[in-house]
Amino acid sequence: MTLDQKQELLSIATEAAQVAGNIIKQAKAKGIKHKGNVDLVTETDLASEAEICRLLSTNAPDIPILAEESGGSQENTRWIIDPLDGTTNFAHGLPHYAVSIGLEWEGDLLVGVIYNPCTDELFSAVKDMGATCNDIPIRVSSTKNFSQALLATGFPYDRQENPERYTKWVTIMLKNCQGIRRAGSAALDLAYVAAGRLDGFWEFGLKPWDMAAGKLLITEAGGVISNQMGTKHHINDVCIVAGNPLVHPTLLYNLQQ
Ligand code: IPD
Ligand code: CA
Ligand code: CA
Repeated sequence: MTLDQKQELLSIATEAAQVAGNIIKQAKAKGIKHKGNVDLVTETDLASEAEICRLLSTNAPDIPILAEESGGSQENTRWIIDPLDGTTNFAHGLPHYAVSIGLEWEGDLLVGVIYNPCTDELFSAVKDMGATCNDIPIRVSSTKNFSQALLATGFPYDRQENPERYTKWVTIMLKNCQGIRRAGSAALDLAYVAAGRLDGFWEFGLKPWDMAAGKLLITEAGGVISNQMGTKHHINDVCIVAGNPLVHPTLLYNLQQ
């Protein structure tokens, strides 16, 4: 693929993320439905997703789509969309959520865009071309000591049934790091690792749409991503471990205890 083709796909994803972000900005949380005990979907998730799918299939008709609310392609060339990451925050009026659009191309992540309509920050990355926030290049942090690392995590939707499965890791990390945040948007957690605002992140049970764009942002910003075994993270892996290259080994070690 040429540079121009990659740039074209980036602008298609960027436009879709911004248009969807504007839908979210204008919406109030309403029409809330429960997918499970703790898993929500609002009319805004659905409206955002419909518009993203419409724009992507108009502007790049040959590329299949996998989207959170409507499902879709299981191939390894596809758009991977989370129309509103942080729905629980959105539904409570807590301004921390984002639109995430990744493009997987023959198994590799090629383009990633995460747009936060609350702050108007647009994080984007293209494979081998670096990562930016509002067009300014971003890099992961240079924090060396785990004791000074600010980490983030999240808790999967089965946390009510199996809380200790997840609190175990929080306990271990709390003893060793500077602090832990649970802000409620995995896409923004990953973007913030890429931007050096967080030093590391781990979570179990994320789905491809939570991670696709953020994974590319982190690798393009000089970060490291693995699964809990420490090997290459696959988009369907149960655990994601991400961080700057200095903190990642200790994060991983702790997750293997
Ligand atoms: C959720 C958020 C949250 C994470 C959950 C995700 P949603 O996505 O990213 O931070 O902990 O596992 O499902 O449902 O708001 O799109
Ligand atoms: Ca999500
Ligand atoms: Ca979502």
